[in-house]
Amino acid sequence: MARLELTSSSPEETERLAGRLARRLLVGNVVTVSGELGTGKTTFVRGACRALGIEVPVTSPTFTIGHRYPGNPDVSHLDLFRFKGVSPAEWGDLEPYFEDAICFVEWPEAAARVLPPVRVAVRLSHVDREHRTIEVESDDRQLLAEVSGDVDARV
Ligand SMILES: Nc1ncnc2c1ncn2[C@@H]1O[C@H](COP(=O)(O)OP(=O)(O)OP(=O)(O)O)[C@@H](O)[C@H]1O
Ligand SMILES: [Mg+2]
Repeated sequence: MARLELTSSSPEETERLAGRLARRLLVGNVVTVSGELGTGKTTFVRGACRALGIEVPVTSPTFTIGHRYPGNPDVSHLDLFRFKGVSPAEWGDLEPYFEDAICFVEWPEAAARVLPPVRVAVRLSHVDREHRTIEVESDDRQLLAEVSGDVDARV
């Protein structure tokens, strides 16, 4: 597993970084997006969705299980904040989001045991009001190189 660590200075920069990552994704890929409240997980997913051609507003699905945005391919966005674990019945509700879509999962910890293989694991953390550390882990070094773009990167 290779790992990249970047600093973002604004929501826009987080969106751009997510966009560079998104362009390497394929249908069926799962991306986990972890981090404390307000670190920018939904902002990251929004940037990825924009790069994937999703034009409708991308909002937090905190009060629903998730969103599935039609596109080419579809993009799913799950938020498992309220989950403690995932029962078989709950997995029955979640599974369709993974089928024939690129799927972003906020608060993936509760579902760690049932998630399909994760292509990229993203973790955001607070530095100060407008700076965030963004760690990206993947077996795909090419993907990490593209995510790092022109920003100062350590792989
Ligand atoms: N560098 C940055 N990257 C991302 N968001 C930032 C940054 N700097 C400030 N912000 C702000 O932090 C907030 C992040 O909100 P967002 O909903 O994306 O977080 P979240 O991690 O999804 O929260 P939650 O845990 O509630 O789901 C937004 O208000 C955004 O403007
Ligand atoms: Mg969120």
